[in-house]
Amino acid sequence: MSIYGPYDQDLQKILATTRDRIQQLNQAVVTAHQPKLYEHLIGRVKEPASMEEKCRRKGYPVTTESALRRCHDAVGLRIVCNFIDDIDRCLKQLRRANWCTIVQEKDYITNAKPNGYRSYHLILDELTPYKDIDGRQPGHFYVEIQLRTIAMDTWASLEHEMKYKHHIKDPERISRELKHCADQLASCDVQLQTIRQLIHEEN
Ligand code: GTP
Ligand code: MG
Repeated sequence: MSIYGPYDQDLQKILATTRDRIQQLNQAVVTAHQPKLYEHLIGRVKEPASMEEKCRRKGYPVTTESALRRCHDAVGLRIVCNFIDDIDRCLKQLRRANWCTIVQEKDYITNAKPNGYRSYHLILDELTPYKDIDGRQPGHFYVEIQLRTIAMDTWASLEHEMKYKHHIKDPERISRELKHCADQLASCDVQLQTIRQLIHEEN
């Protein structure tokens, strides 16, 4: 059995349900003739091996309890938006949704990480039909949501790739270039938002 113990299948179902619920939020907005909330939505259940690695890194015992109660990203979804304002629109919808409570928010958009990483992170406490680790049914499960623009997502993929290349000649230079690129992309995101607004005002 994996670190997720008897919860393996439930986590997959929670991922699918959450994806559906977010798609429904988008569908409602589109039906009301408003622009779509996001460009695309992806999700994953964290690989058991990387959850074990995370528990070790954080100094938690490598147990199902650590994976579900102390770590909050066994189930994770990423909402990738066209424009910065769409991130706020998504947040507004998620705050109103009756199937979850937001228990943590990290705004790495207002406060980018020193390396240039930008995203808005949420931890949801989601109500599900499954029995949780405290024996409650309907059970509560944590779900991590990352909200980003396409530009932020492109940057994060590239930066992530860097982390796994260990024989780079001039890592300081690459970090500097990456940081510079992140700041330029952030400025483009603002410009794109402005252009969108101008187009809307004309109609
Ligand atoms: P983890 O232990 O890695 O989960 O970090 P944390 O619990 O301190 O949370 P944090 O909000 O910093 O990061 C959660 C997730 O955001 C990570 O697992 C990554 O997917 C993403 N992330 C955070 N920082 C970076 C970064 O600098 N670069 C990239 N590419 N992704 C990041
Ligand atoms: Mg994580």
